[in-house]
Amino acid sequence: MDRVEILVLDFGSQYTQLIARRLREYGVYTEIVPYFEPLASIKHKAPKGIILSGGPASVYEEGAPRPDGGIFALNIPVLGICYGMQYIADTFGGSVIPALAQEFGKATLELVLSEDKTAQDGGKQACEIFEGVGDLSVVWMSHSDQVSTIPEGFVELARSGNTHYCAIAHPHQQIYALQFHPEVVQSEYGGKILENFAIKICGASSDWNMRHFAQNEITHLRQKIQGAKVLCGVSGGVDSSVVALLLHRAIGENLIPIFVDHGLLRAKEREMVEEMFQKNLGMSLIVVDASELFLSRLDGIKDPEKKRKIIGETFIEVFESEAKKHHNNGDIKFLAQGTLYPDVIESVSVKGPSKTIKSHHNVGGLPEWMRFELIEPLRELFKDEVRSLGRELGMPESMLMRHPFPGPGLAIRIMGAVGREDLELLRKADGIFLDELHKSGYYDRVWQAFCVLLNVKSVGVMGDNRTYDNTICVRAVIAVDGMTASFAHLPHTLLESISSRIINEVSGINRVVYDITSKPPGTIEWE
Ligand code: XMP
Repeated sequence: MDRVEILVLDFGSQYTQLIARRLREYGVYTEIVPYFEPLASIKHKAPKGIILSGGPASVYEEGAPRPDGGIFALNIPVLGICYGMQYIADTFGGSVIPALAQEFGKATLELVLSEDKTAQDGGKQACEIFEGVGDLSVVWMSHSDQVSTIPEGFVELARSGNTHYCAIAHPHQQIYALQFHPEVVQSEYGGKILENFAIKICGASSDWNMRHFAQNEITHLRQKIQGAKVLCGVSGGVDSSVVALLLHRAIGENLIPIFVDHGLLRAKEREMVEEMFQKNLGMSLIVVDASELFLSRLDGIKDPEKKRKIIGETFIEVFESEAKKHHNNGDIKFLAQGTLYPDVIESVSVKGPSKTIKSHHNVGGLPEWMRFELIEPLRELFKDEVRSLGRELGMPESMLMRHPFPGPGLAIRIMGAVGREDLELLRKADGIFLDELHKSGYYDRVWQAFCVLLNVKSVGVMGDNRTYDNTICVRAVIAVDGMTASFAHLPHTLLESISSRIINEVSGINRVVYDITSKPPGTIEWE
């Protein structure tokens, strides 16, 4: 096992895992544990620094999450972020109140180190966290509480327009606290600040890389699986393909990769995936056509969460019945999935008390009766990290750079009930959109792109006739890890040809709109 350099105590922020991944980018091996991790276990891990994450609670409320206070006596630096900062302020005798003006989104951080406090004893140490950071910079805020008075011994390091105490520190005890989120990419110098904390202040080593992850995972998988067989649901997307490849390296022929056609795939997807696995990875897939089963169960179901649950459960049913068909009962013990961290964080609470946004089918949609034991080796990784893992394992770029495609497929891109004719309309429109993106070279410049069938009818005129037809929404986003995203600025000429081709070539569509919503406040998918 890798030695833990930095330990993150999770208070349930949507961004906790981002802290770990940012530090991994700097080669610092970081682990996340719940905020209530026993002190003995923290001592055993012997990290060089501790980070307290953000979280949805208010520290002045009864039952607010509090870690073992002994962490401050371990003689290692501690950094609190958002809730973590408020917890620190509260614990050391400062005060926290509801924010006078809530701050969500970008804010300007102004360093105040030079004004007074740097001259004080220990000031230099306090400044280290902001070394290389501009006097004014953009940071990402997401809080409804704020520190109103700072505890004794602490110094003020930065402020924003709405938040007086944006960064404080106790230089002698090496405690640092930030109200903003350095872990999200929108914080201009966020990575630098985390790097300063981990490497400069804590003295963490920075030699960790994806090869370590691959080697560790392969060893860990072998130990866990112990000669049993593993069914791996593959979708053709990069996540499940990387899981299959990792398992293939770990257990060879004991891996049984299975592709389920749930009738919610894009045009020609099934053939493409089969060929891709055979040609690039030398793996034959078991292909199951279960489209009738899925589509009949989805018949008339409008609620997005219900759709997701039905799809998740039906997947497992199909996996179980295939497992019985292909191997003697009991032979296949595990089911492997390409669940990523963003799927987990938005579905269920991983290690702390975070809120559910939507249940991703391979996380929240699993039935209780499931007989398989789950294997999810990518559960703590982000999409771009999965791509570097795939690269490390020798997967070709053509497979690695495919856009993500969600497990529930087109079902969550048709608003409301999923009709068979609607699926055909959506497939055609989506095929045209992707074709235009490939032709214009934009496919590789966006993170994900797809069409959504809105089930909104509007009046149009085509030739001399009135039409009253459906609307297609075109969505393309730029992202790094899918946790946040902004809509892609596709050229108007490209949007024009996409719109005109969809309307001319797909009968039943008379209007095309472009989604200009970022995440947050939207999500990437519509359901
Ligand atoms: P959202 O819509 O949550 O999507 O912003 C973030 C990324 O996750 C993909 N996604 C899923 N992937 N099962 C998956 O395997 C799911 O249930 C699921 N829902 C969303 C989405 O396509 C985007 O890339």
